[in-house]
Amino acid sequence: MAKEYQIAVIPGDGIGPEVVGEGLKVVKAASEKTGFRYRTIYYDFGGERYLKTGETLPDSALEELKAMDAIYLGAVGHPQVKTGILEQGILLKLRFGLDQYINLRPVKLYPGVWTPLKDKGPEDIDFVVVRENTEGLYVGAGGFFKKGTRDEVAVQEMINTRKGVERCIRYAFEYARKRNKKRRVTLCDKANVLIFAHDLWRRTFEEVGEEYPDMEKDCALVDATCMWMVKNPEWFDVIVTCNMFGDIITDLGAVIQGGMGVAAGANINPQGVSMFEPIHGSAPKYTGKNVINPLAAIFAAGMMLEHLGEEKGAKLVDEAVTRLLSSGQIKDLSTKSGLKTDEIGDMVVRNMGLV
Ligand code: IPM
Ligand code: MN
Repeated sequence: MAKEYQIAVIPGDGIGPEVVGEGLKVVKAASEKTGFRYRTIYYDFGGERYLKTGETLPDSALEELKAMDAIYLGAVGHPQVKTGILEQGILLKLRFGLDQYINLRPVKLYPGVWTPLKDKGPEDIDFVVVRENTEGLYVGAGGFFKKGTRDEVAVQEMINTRKGVERCIRYAFEYARKRNKKRRVTLCDKANVLIFAHDLWRRTFEEVGEEYPDMEKDCALVDATCMWMVKNPEWFDVIVTCNMFGDIITDLGAVIQGGMGVAAGANINPQGVSMFEPIHGSAPKYTGKNVINPLAAIFAAGMMLEHLGEEKGAKLVDEAVTRLLSSGQIKDLSTKSGLKTDEIGDMVVRNMGLV
């Protein structure tokens, strides 16, 4: 009998549960159409649980999650919980604890989706950001000295290890080769100022790059990268970058691909368990209103299927969404689209396998 995938589901806070529900509808439809088997195991980590128990993500859960085939995450963030607690205690703990050292974020404008970039279309906006996901400024190395006094000093160190940088850059080259589009990897850094940290990135990029003579290599400073993403996004194929810059440029990426409503990402540990999530947050004010467009979560589910090796299922999802967007059946990705969250999920399911 075929393997049964164990999928951990963390719906999280705010609109997380609603969009995850729609993503799972699509996974179910894919399994029925293509014949794979799976089981979902729910975890209630998030703001509500934290407010009740003071617990974010227990170490025991982290161990349990290591045995899963994938994790599907909605969103964490709660208006009554101080900023940083859930992000650090859940999201970053998962990424770090499961050594998901790649954050893969496609920036793709689908036909029919509005972009704020004038004169740019789907043929111009189609690249992938490979963000380092377990090091850099996110490590939490540093501290305060004389906190709360006028002499206060706050230090936050950017940790870059040769191993961490190298595996990320190698992943980017492999990915670009497999993707087989422009066959170009751009290193986005700030080597002119971060003369230690990003010198390591540049040297590693050059060295690893030599193993990929068939690929084009290019370096762009992060400020210039932002400019090019707006001015000439067609230049990019795969961008590889550090954790902090990856965080920032993928919000810009999300906007040029039509907004947070369609931006999804994968936190990947190629040797372990990976996690799939919409990039948007928990949008507390829309909770329970059934107005949030679930496409980002649906795209994340598609990425999960692809990662599991269910390419056929992933393709069905992608084709269904493409059809709905390009035909104008889903015109507006905002909360004012007139379409309900569950309606959009149903539309995707109905369109799967129609092409
Ligand atoms: C993201 C988010 C997180 C990050 C936050 C919530 C910690 O902005 O996934 O991009 O900075 O990585
Ligand atoms: Mn972010």
